[in-house]
Amino acid sequence: MIVLSKEGNKLAFELAKLKNFNLYNYFFKKFPDGEVYVRFKKVLEDNEIIFVSSLFPPNDSIVELILVLNELSNKEIILVVPYLAYSRQHRKFLENECISAQALAKVIESFNVKKLITVNVHSSEVSNFYKKTEFVNIDAFEEIINHFKKKFDFVLLPDNEKDRVEVIENLSKKYNFEFSYLIKERDRYTGEIKSYLNEEIDLKNKKVLIIDDMISTGSTIINSLKILSKMKVKSAYVSCVHGLFLNNCDKKIKKFKFVKEIVCTNSIENKFSKISLARVISNFL
Ligand code: R5P
Repeated sequence: MIVLSKEGNKLAFELAKLKNFNLYNYFFKKFPDGEVYVRFKKVLEDNEIIFVSSLFPPNDSIVELILVLNELSNKEIILVVPYLAYSRQHRKFLENECISAQALAKVIESFNVKKLITVNVHSSEVSNFYKKTEFVNIDAFEEIINHFKKKFDFVLLPDNEKDRVEVIENLSKKYNFEFSYLIKERDRYTGEIKSYLNEEIDLKNKKVLIIDDMISTGSTIINSLKILSKMKVKSAYVSCVHGLFLNNCDKKIKKFKFVKEIVCTNSIENKFSKISLARVISNFL
């Protein structure tokens, strides 16, 4: 068994170290016209391969994924892809929309992928598109709770997605903390979101930990922070599993002076990815 990844993938390095597997890297570049090029650094003799892939930024990474999987056609592959891009569109929210999560599943299943390990996939419904490949969806909220330990006294989810509310409810019993969630409504045409509290709570002088599955444009978190600002919280810790931080939205988040820290996992490497997923993922290898 070996671990294979693009040069510089820190999660792959950590996983290989934890499991005592050899790490093989491949070289990646882009041609001037935008095409993607991959070259393995040596012949892969092992038959079982853990391929650690980052699907961010999504489009080039998906082509890279296709090139590598095609090259590994005669191997048995465990694909580790913590941030499973194109999972937002797992159904037709508007008439005639294309279902990207299904399309990606068909591509992945057309290769010899025995198991796909992902983390906090946008919707658990995505797993239904995988018919042959075993689909493992790890929840990393507990890793985040453990990271912050006793720094917070209240957890706030920025939306009312059922799976996430259930997870945090269970964690609140295990670790003994209070939590609540916001109701989030999205205009499917404009993308505009509105958030409001689902219940009357008093968070004055509380240290609030906000946890989301991802921070993309930052709009969801900023809406939550506006609410917390009105409630006069003492401080807030902003966290998520997948930190995309598009258009430098971290700067807008930091404008709220009561925000003490922004933290995400290393599903996507950036300056906020302080929580490693290597340990939880290694349990499934
Ligand atoms: C939505 O369902 C997700 O949980 C995230 O809240 C959302 O995708 C974050 O996106 P943005 O940062 O663009 O608001």
